[in-house]
Amino acid sequence: MFVRRIAVIGTGYVGLTTGACLASLGHDVVCADVDADKLERLRRGEVDILEPGLADLVAEGIAAGRLSFVLGASAAIRALAEGPEVMFLCVPTPMGVGGVADLSIVESVIEEVRDLLPADCVVVNKSTVPVGTAERTQELLVRSDVAVVSNPEFLREGSAVYDFLNPDRIVVGASQQDAAERVAALYAKLGAPTVLTDAPSAELVKYAANCFLAMKLSYVNAVAELCDRLGANISDVTEGMGYDKRIGQAFLQPGPGWGGSCLPKDTSAMLQLADAADFEFRLIRATIDTNTRQRQRMVEKVRLAVTGKRNGSLSHRRLALFGLTFKAGTDDLRDSPALAVAALLRQAGADLVGYDPALRPDSGHPALSSITVTDDPYHAVKDAEAVVVLTEWPEFRALDWARLAEAVRKPIVVDTRNLLDPAVARRAGFEWIGVGMP
Ligand code: UDX
Repeated sequence: MFVRRIAVIGTGYVGLTTGACLASLGHDVVCADVDADKLERLRRGEVDILEPGLADLVAEGIAAGRLSFVLGASAAIRALAEGPEVMFLCVPTPMGVGGVADLSIVESVIEEVRDLLPADCVVVNKSTVPVGTAERTQELLVRSDVAVVSNPEFLREGSAVYDFLNPDRIVVGASQQDAAERVAALYAKLGAPTVLTDAPSAELVKYAANCFLAMKLSYVNAVAELCDRLGANISDVTEGMGYDKRIGQAFLQPGPGWGGSCLPKDTSAMLQLADAADFEFRLIRATIDTNTRQRQRMVEKVRLAVTGKRNGSLSHRRLALFGLTFKAGTDDLRDSPALAVAALLRQAGADLVGYDPALRPDSGHPALSSITVTDDPYHAVKDAEAVVVLTEWPEFRALDWARLAEAVRKPIVVDTRNLLDPAVARRAGFEWIGVGMP
């Protein structure tokens, strides 16, 4: 394998995972960011995101002299003798006005490095970007000797390192085949199926995959609603569906709706993309609308459980929320369905106490301003009229539910993730209410 000199711009989830994993594959990697304090912590091997295995890889990379951290994109170019052979762009592309991805950071990085990149360098877009961005980046570069390649990432938060080192596939798109092959070769050790294509197709793979996943979940949540109405069991229904190899068992778990840093952003961007191409992508619109409805439906479940009426008032009813992050295994609150449900409960007048294994009471996170966060689940349920499980943390299963039943005012648990064993909850004295479960 060739050892390549690589610059990675951006040390968020994607950038840091990419940098640390490429270093672990033997490449020489310099990572750049604009946050000097964060870089200082990274140089000491401190990683401030919850990502299993990442801190170890960072420490190993630093110790082996294959991974370093510098301030600013241009410093990353200069830090590598003869400059980088490959430069990864892993900067944020937030949802801008009207759901369109905001590319201003990508643009400013290109501006900064344009004249510094060595001839034959390959610029790789790893950030999720609209179709056509590779072409646009090429135009902004004004360098015919530097190729732009699209190489979308498929990392899940909470298992990003595993996903990087055990990919289902590598997708690389470029107008110049040799540039695409050079990028694909960086991953040669991983032995994954590789799709070499043009840049627009590679860019579309990411959106098409994430929208498909969101659609799968909205579909399951809608079938779960039907189960609720018909007295069927969603868990058995999805198991029966999932044995069909064309469907598969993964990503069929109903919940309070999907969220996180990718699926909401990418479904909105796909709608915009289609709109700009004069195509009304109704399936994606329905996928998003079903997700919005799912959150409201969880509130309706809580309302009925607590008040006994479909239109009962939740005003000043105290509720204990278990799980606030957008899924288990992460401390990320971005577009968390748990917080969306919490906001609706708050709007309905409920008083909210939250417990999440990944959050400290003093985190001061603005998204938590209307929730009293505690680090003690038994304290959280005190005087509550129901426990609402919103994130699928396995830790919740291991709690002493009999002790929780004693502390709570009304022993009701609305389990929006179907996480708990209903028999265990019931034995402990709780009325257990799931999603799509009789
Ligand atoms: C996703 C994609 O999976 C990943 O390939 C892409 O690169 C980034 O976006 P991530 O946002 O980390 O990853 O979360 P993911 O594990 O996909 O979960 C997304 C949402 O769906 C979460 O809110 C999760 O709780 C929910 N979900 C997931 C379910 O409700 N049920 C499931 O069966 C799976």
